[in-house]
Amino acid sequence: MQNSQIISIKNMKKQFPMGKGKFTALKNIDLTFDRGEFTGIVGPSGSGKTTLLNVIGSLDSPTEGKVITLGESIGALSHKKAANLRNKHIGFIFQTYNLLPVYTVYENVEFPLLLLKMPASKRKKAVLDSLEWLGLTDKIKSRPGQLSGGECQRVAVARAMVKIPEVVLADEPTANLDAENSHNILKMMVKLNKELKTTFIFATHDEKVIQYLRRQVVLKDGKVVNIKN
Ligand SMILES: Nc1ncnc2c1ncn2[C@@H]1O[C@H](COP(=O)(O)OP(=O)(O)OP(=O)(O)O)[C@@H](O)[C@H]1O
Ligand SMILES: [Mg+2]
Repeated sequence: MQNSQIISIKNMKKQFPMGKGKFTALKNIDLTFDRGEFTGIVGPSGSGKTTLLNVIGSLDSPTEGKVITLGESIGALSHKKAANLRNKHIGFIFQTYNLLPVYTVYENVEFPLLLLKMPASKRKKAVLDSLEWLGLTDKIKSRPGQLSGGECQRVAVARAMVKIPEVVLADEPTANLDAENSHNILKMMVKLNKELKTTFIFATHDEKVIQYLRRQVVLKDGKVVNIKN
């Protein structure tokens, strides 16, 4: 069998309410993603990259058209089913980290595993491994407010990867990292992608990320204007 399709988007439009009218953030989107891709959604600020990741990951719904992620129709799912899809199968790296401020680094990374009800011993190993990959072992007891921007970003990456999800949706995951940390994280992602077939979809305009991508979906003004393989 060929690489299986895990995301399919057909004639999708996304609008947001704006004043008395509507703002169209995405339109005429037709895209598919196969398992094991390492793909970036690229384009200028405001072109719709984050919006597209959010819809793929069921954090938002399409206004028109059809989006199927891992067999589930986004927008038609109940809140509970959407949460279940995300908890089980999708790792998010948010542009603004979304770490829980009162939790320690360890607890932030452990959180997705608690949602999965993973047993404690297995959980501890997964959290410590993930923190070690990201060079955060000495920050385990710190809280996000005590970390630099780049350290917060690495915690967000560790949290997304800890459950080894089928799909990682990474929104500007290197925005606050220096070159060395960016390359380390990307190499780790390439390794996970190769060894475990984890699918990676990035939203980015960072050249450091772009050089690792195997496919680029170029957005402009909410439309796909090019696909580079
Ligand atoms: N909740 C919202 N309500 C209204 N407009 C929104 C909302 N979210 C996004 N938009 C608008 O949709 C457009 C696309 O936003 P989006 O965040 O997807 O862009 P982006 O490509 O990720 O940009 P950046 O590179 O700056 O992160 C922007 O014009 C933005 O203002
Ligand atoms: Mg964005």
